[in-house]
Amino acid sequence: MASKLKLLVIGGGGREHALVWKLAQSPLAGQILCAPGNAGIAQLATCVPIKANDLDGIVSLAQQEQVDLVVCGPETPLIAGLTDRLHAARIPTFGPSEAAMQIEGSKGWARGLMVKANLPIPEFEVFNDPHEAEAYVRAHPGPLVVKADGEAAGKGALVCDDTDGAVEAVRRIMVEKAFGAAGERVVIEERLEGEEFSAMAFLQDGVILPMPVSQDHKRAYDGDKGPNTGGMGAYSPVPAVTEEMEHEVVDQILKPLVGALAEEGITYNGIIFPGLMITDKGVKIIEFNGRFGDPEAEVLVARMDFDLLEVYHAAAHGELTDATTLAWKPGASACVVMASDGYPGDYETGKPISGLEDAARVEDTVVFHSGTAIGPEGEFVTAGGRVLAVTAWGENGPKALHRAYEAVEKITWDGAFYRKDIGHRLLKSSH
Ligand code: AMP
Ligand code: GLY
Repeated sequence: MASKLKLLVIGGGGREHALVWKLAQSPLAGQILCAPGNAGIAQLATCVPIKANDLDGIVSLAQQEQVDLVVCGPETPLIAGLTDRLHAARIPTFGPSEAAMQIEGSKGWARGLMVKANLPIPEFEVFNDPHEAEAYVRAHPGPLVVKADGEAAGKGALVCDDTDGAVEAVRRIMVEKAFGAAGERVVIEERLEGEEFSAMAFLQDGVILPMPVSQDHKRAYDGDKGPNTGGMGAYSPVPAVTEEMEHEVVDQILKPLVGALAEEGITYNGIIFPGLMITDKGVKIIEFNGRFGDPEAEVLVARMDFDLLEVYHAAAHGELTDATTLAWKPGASACVVMASDGYPGDYETGKPISGLEDAARVEDTVVFHSGTAIGPEGEFVTAGGRVLAVTAWGENGPKALHRAYEAVEKITWDGAFYRKDIGHRLLKSSH
């Protein structure tokens, strides 16, 4: 292998800060560029002001800088075909192709594939016409979920309690176009009940290397109330997920998925991330994503006891095998997201953040930046809805959570908010 690898990481959130943090620890890491990055990432990498969805800009940058590997965090560039573009320019990367990314980019296509693979999923139907969608809702009185087919930054699924709510959801998505063109089609699903978890794996040419499971908290407010967000906190492992369920994910979900993709002529190379629910009829699939979750990546990097750069590099060259092992630190990790008041709706930015140095002194803790910038006086200021992803690890879940909150309590800004109950299920199960 070349002595040092020059890297380009795409994205600018907490997930990308976490990836850069871990990649930078590798003895193989040379210069790390990040497009666009953020003020926290700039402490470890050279940030370049090119947006993650500017495919031309990214490909030119990778060529000019002759990078050895591109690591893409977010879904948008992958859905738009970043991997294909990089491969055409002979730049090594590990991420799903445009065809493979339909698994995340079109919920209808993804559900269709799950049917072909005979995977465990809720009942669903896809509609292009709002009247037909409404008629279906009226004919199905049970609780439903109405989803914009396309990409909607994790916010396009409306979980409805009754028929009126579902009719209203169809109207918001298809008529008012609350999620823009993503809502030209909707997927209407049976609403499942149960505990959710995230299962991520490296998937390359049919080689499946699973990572520990984690649990995200999607709702904005305590008690799992309020609107869906990108994620307000996470922890790993998840006591409710048995070893048997973990095997089920690989054998009954990922393996048949690889087969069904192959029948479509698609080889999936990249991170695969099924979002799952433990129902009283077994584990069911809520969705597939083709990237690391955010804040799931934060809790996973905290537990990685292997060289992430070595694995990414091998994967980009098709060198992962069933004999590749990923070692994980025993114990647990947890992440609490600190957000701007108003998120996931409108919020203000530019608020000076205090307490970061004190938080950094909390043992076994790292504060990843999700949305920060440097203010006029050289200080860190808020620059996003999700601002910080405060991540900690320890011998067990409660200890990791306690540490994360200890660090969170040292940080503040005008209009900061965070959930006080991240890991509530974990804490309940450990009593
Ligand atoms: P998605 O955008 O598909 O990730 O959905 C966002 C969130 O909506 C999920 O994490 C679930 O909490 C919820 N959700 C989506 N589909 C369903 C379903 N069929 N049943 C119950 N909850 C769902
Ligand atoms: N935290 C959920 C996601 O990244 O999709």
